[in-house]
Amino acid sequence: MISDLNSRGESSGEVPTNGHGPAGDPAASNAIAVEHIVKKYGDFTAVDGVSFNVKEEEIFGLLGPNGAGKSTLIRMMTTLIPVTAGSARIAGHDVQNDPDAVRRAIGVIPQALTSDLDLTIEENLNIYAKLYDVPAKKRKAAIDELLELVDLTKWRSAQTKTLSGGMRRRLEIARGLVHSPRIFFLDEPTTGLDPVSRVAVWEMLTNIKSHRQLTILITTHYMDEADRLCDRIAIVDHGKLVALDTPAALKASVPGSNVIEAQFDNVPAGWEDRLKKMSEVTSVQHEGAGMYRVLTGDGSRTTTELVEAAVHSGVKIRSLSVQNTTLDDVFVHYTGRQLRDELVKAHAFVMPPRPGLQP
Ligand SMILES: Nc1ncnc2c1ncn2[C@@H]1O[C@H](COP(=O)(O)OP(=O)(O)OP(=O)(O)O)[C@@H](O)[C@H]1O
Ligand SMILES: [Mg+2]
Repeated sequence: MISDLNSRGESSGEVPTNGHGPAGDPAASNAIAVEHIVKKYGDFTAVDGVSFNVKEEEIFGLLGPNGAGKSTLIRMMTTLIPVTAGSARIAGHDVQNDPDAVRRAIGVIPQALTSDLDLTIEENLNIYAKLYDVPAKKRKAAIDELLELVDLTKWRSAQTKTLSGGMRRRLEIARGLVHSPRIFFLDEPTTGLDPVSRVAVWEMLTNIKSHRQLTILITTHYMDEADRLCDRIAIVDHGKLVALDTPAALKASVPGSNVIEAQFDNVPAGWEDRLKKMSEVTSVQHEGAGMYRVLTGDGSRTTTELVEAAVHSGVKIRSLSVQNTTLDDVFVHYTGRQLRDELVKAHAFVMPPRPGLQP
């Protein structure tokens, strides 16, 4: 299913979507068409021959660890940096031949927060509306509607520097939509936010999607975010596309349908090999501190065997959980590494300090 992605750009069989949009409709036209795109910085290849299509009104996720090339892909698609080779067509316009037409069709939320801290929420939105030539008569109505959509109406006169990270993100999302773009690019909109604010941003994006005809391309390194929001997900690693499909199809493509996470005390030598030999087990990862992640086609049968083996060998089970396969397992399956590890190794993005009080 996933083979040859970087040359062809799509999985071979189109699979049903999870119901969020028309991703499975072969008649739907492409809002974004990227072909064999490459970005080199000197000798270093940041994006290495990536191809994919995004259909009108689809929510498409680029998922990958730090340094995978997600922002570089977005920067090329949004005309911010030149393409080294290959092409990208956005709303039918080529990014290299017709960048102005591309810019008129898109809204972009960059990874770093960029609203003016000394202005109020409303002033920030007004400036963008003027920059994008939104007619004066329509400006107030457009801003009122957006403030409602992102749930910031009552803070419209608050200075931006007094807002929490989550509120600033919501302001920036409203700002990116002020000229009613057809295609919306969001680069890691929830990185650095607390879990409650992250969920608020997800709900807001879903809400916006239900009110507007919008194609959304979002980058993230959060598996749960990609799973919950996206119609289809492209997994990017070291500048290459390693998998592309609906979240459900990606999970179904991993051998094994359940994951057992178990933590043991006093494991004997060869314990990992014993786990690997149990019925239906397709892979075992030792995550340190006695914690093992076991992929299996039959969660209950493997659990029984595992408990029996532990009792027999005098191994204490500190914790044990059985779940369905997640996108974490998909990432491990296609890259051989854990996304979590990659993120811990990399330098974490930290939300800028927030002077003043929260309103
Ligand atoms: N201007 C540049 N000059 C040289 N190398 C660059 C430049 N911009 C990005 N890179 C490199 O290209 C690779 C991809 O970077 P990119 O910012 O696209 O990754 P990312 O997937 O967005 O990661 P993150 O999750 O950290 O935002 C990284 O190795 C990065 O160091
Ligand atoms: Mg990035």
